[in-house]
Amino acid sequence: MATERTLSIIKPDATARNLTGKIIAKLEDAGLRVVAQKRTKWSRSDAEAFYAVHRERPFFDDLVAFMTSGPIVIQVLEGEDAVATNRKVMGATNPADAEAGTIRKDFAENIERNSVHGSDSAENAAKEIALCFKAGEIVG
Ligand code: CMP
Repeated sequence: MATERTLSIIKPDATARNLTGKIIAKLEDAGLRVVAQKRTKWSRSDAEAFYAVHRERPFFDDLVAFMTSGPIVIQVLEGEDAVATNRKVMGATNPADAEAGTIRKDFAENIERNSVHGSDSAENAAKEIALCFKAGEIVG
């Protein structure tokens, strides 16, 4: 196993319900360390740039509308196999399929309002981290 970094976003459905601390506790309990964090609100162009890979999907416009509907908390998480570890603690994209004890099983409302985003590969993690943070903002 190797120490790596991944990008995490606590989404507007979760910030609206004041779940930031409960979600961070699950990440930390899974062995992940928050090495950068900011609470912000995305513009339409921010969300479109971040989710550009999904531009052709039927849910793209709704996803952009949702991700710009309220505050989000963007984090860089560091730990052993951080990409896979974070995906395990997040649970399946659709909370109906997520395992007990995962963030999405416990907190997500539906497949869109699913409380958290996590990078799906080390390669995409590096791209997403570079899109959201300057190197000096990440303190491990
Ligand atoms: P996320 O991990 O942020 O990556 C893309 C997001 O699109 C995903 O979480 C969901 O919020 C959303 N998404 C994925 N599939 C669907 C779907 N079938 N319908 C609506 N939203 C979806």
